[in-house]
Amino acid sequence: MGEEILRVENLKTYFFTEAGVVKAVDGVSFSVYEGEPLGIVGETGSGKTVTSLSIMRIVPPPGKIISGRIIYRGEDLLEKSEDEMRKIRGKKIAIVFQDPNSSLDPLFTVESQLNEVIMAHLKVTKQEARNRALELLKMVRIPDPEARLKAYPHELSGGMRQRVAIARALANEPDILIADEPTTNLDVTIQAQIIELLKELQSKLKMTLIMITHDMGLVAETTKRVVVLYAGSVAEIAPTNEIFKSMRHPYTAALLKAVPRIDRRKELKPIPGSIPNLIDPPSGCRFHPRCPYVIQRCIEEVPELEFTDQRAVACHRWKELSLKGE
Ligand SMILES: Nc1ncnc2c1ncn2[C@@H]1O[C@H](COP(=O)(O)OP(=O)(O)OP(=O)(O)O)[C@@H](O)[C@H]1O
Ligand code: SF4
Ligand SMILES: [Mg+2]
Repeated sequence: MGEEILRVENLKTYFFTEAGVVKAVDGVSFSVYEGEPLGIVGETGSGKTVTSLSIMRIVPPPGKIISGRIIYRGEDLLEKSEDEMRKIRGKKIAIVFQDPNSSLDPLFTVESQLNEVIMAHLKVTKQEARNRALELLKMVRIPDPEARLKAYPHELSGGMRQRVAIARALANEPDILIADEPTTNLDVTIQAQIIELLKELQSKLKMTLIMITHDMGLVAETTKRVVVLYAGSVAEIAPTNEIFKSMRHPYTAALLKAVPRIDRRKELKPIPGSIPNLIDPPSGCRFHPRCPYVIQRCIEEVPELEFTDQRAVACHRWKELSLKGE
């Protein structure tokens, strides 16, 4: 494992809505190590996107980071000024969103969008920027890159647009790439190609990749370690190859049964119950209304995230349960 490059500590990000305070991220902690592909997995609404927006410090109103620390190479990003953050965003930590259209401007050509990021952080001539843009398009395997430079986003297919968005994110060789469900909006075959590309780039560039997904199959395929989020807090953290064999949190077990896996044909069992309302979340363990192992203590006491042998779990009963995968 490389050095710790990013550490999220007890992060709380809330949305102050008219209906009440949505505790979207409520005490999330995990580390990211240099060069590793890390997965963040959880059902819809578990706080994956809000966690990544918090790392980039781009949480939209009425959202606010209310406490915690985000330590990037020893410095707390939450203490940086907006000017300082601008030097980190895109240059040190970059993000690719689910929808490539939200990373690309429809009014500008591929070339000018790539130039914009290349020139924002590097002093280069127009010709050098063009060469770099071409190099980036080749890197993300866009055919006929010379011609594609002149294209507008609407002239490209969804898969090509996502490739351009990835090229743009990688333009300044960021330390960390966050990919937030980068394939959800694409056709299945295109999804597989984009995943292949990200895997290839990750290993070639030894990139620190945070792969956000609700798909355990994708976690198995692309990550070495995984953070399982449930209702705004961490349920479990483990090496990917271990979590499939011996999960420690009942939610992880439920998630593994509920999510299709490319490598297995098994009957899917949806997780009973629904995701809690984050304005008024369940007391104690937030998973307790859906957990088959719930006891009185789970309703009364919030389980702490316990760290042991490179793993972490927040469940009162993990030791006695000894859950096993199939
Ligand atoms: N602008 C907002 N205003 C109010 N609540 C919000 C806002 N954005 C997110 N939330 C809430 O924060 C919680 C976490 O949302 P988030 O988008 O991080 O989930 P997610 O894990 O990324 O889900 P998905 O898999 O659907 O992308 C949800 O309950 C959501 O309703
Ligand atoms: S703390 Fe209790 S309710 Fe929560 S996951 Fe563990 S056993 Fe289930
Ligand atoms: Mg999301």
